[in-house]
Amino acid sequence: MSDVTEILTDYSKDVKAVIEDYLSSIDPEDLQKSSVYLTEAGGKMLRPALTLLSSQAVGGNREDALKTAAAFEMIHTFSLIHDDIMDDDDMRRGKPSVHTVWGEPLAILAGDTLFSKAFGLVITSKEDNISADRVAESLAVVADACVKICEGQALDMGFEGNFDVQEEEYMEMIFKKTAALIAGACKAGAIVGGADSEVIDAMYEYGRLIGLAFQIQDDYLDVISDEKDLGKPVGSDIVEGKMTLMVVKALSEANEEDKEKLVKILSDPESPQEDVDIAIDLFNKYGSIEYAHDVALSNVNKAKEILNILPNSSSKDALALLADFVIERKS
Ligand code: IPE
Ligand code: IPE
Ligand code: MG
Ligand code: MG
Ligand code: MG
Repeated sequence: MSDVTEILTDYSKDVKAVIEDYLSSIDPEDLQKSSVYLTEAGGKMLRPALTLLSSQAVGGNREDALKTAAAFEMIHTFSLIHDDIMDDDDMRRGKPSVHTVWGEPLAILAGDTLFSKAFGLVITSKEDNISADRVAESLAVVADACVKICEGQALDMGFEGNFDVQEEEYMEMIFKKTAALIAGACKAGAIVGGADSEVIDAMYEYGRLIGLAFQIQDDYLDVISDEKDLGKPVGSDIVEGKMTLMVVKALSEANEEDKEKLVKILSDPESPQEDVDIAIDLFNKYGSIEYAHDVALSNVNKAKEILNILPNSSSKDALALLADFVIERKS
């Protein structure tokens, strides 16, 4: 794990500097501050690290991929700001969420600013020896990921209160809301690094698989972690009646009585902690936490196999470590 922390820390300083510089000219001041706030708070910077490593793993130069990498972090940050409004969550990255500090209207604009600026940043990557064709290809990847995030978030909200959601539907939802951006970050890294189309597609598939595992782990951490470690609220998925793989599995395995109990808790937007604990007991009773972990692990293992298409390098090794990291992480 310490290797992974080193990799992420190494990249995050550069990415943070690019984002802060690119957002410094926003006016008025409230919008500038609310747009840059979560970057200053500091996240794991997983997506830009994936772009940079994917680029280097196909023979690209780290500096040349930096703007594209930063753009993926900006899109991610935009999605977090809007997600916290949708999920009504008041903490993010260990700080009050953007809408809690500035109110929903400005938080919507801060998200929109990050979204728009991210496209601008990809375009400026043509200053860094990236051909116009490859810049255009990267832009298409970012646009596709953004549409998928919106589709996935719409599915996520639509699934609340729908207790018939099947595993396949859940996987489609998390592919769109989370894995598509992670996959896009890897794909764009391969594009700006100069890879051929077979490798570009393989990197998308690697990202898709680790992205699915990443969201399954996120759902798990919401159940077992604490707010201090996680930097965001825990137990909120159960209170909000979110469909997770643990819920889908428990509902499909439970007897009628337990199923009713779980549905009642998930349907109550004011569930007290003791109800959240009962829901977690039911997850355990029906082996759904272990089941979700097994699904995540199998995706990670498949992702690592895909990396065999790359020549040996320290970047390839780092990509394998990051695949393990998505399900070993505690925050
Ligand atoms: C959180 O992503 C949102 C999800 C897609 C689950 P991260 O866990 O990568 O958040 P940060 O960037 O480290 O804060
Ligand atoms: C987030 O899913 C996906 C996006 C931000 C698009 P969650 O709602 O589970 O993310 P967290 O747990 O709030 O970070
Ligand atoms: Mg959320
Ligand atoms: Mg959400
Ligand atoms: Mg979550």
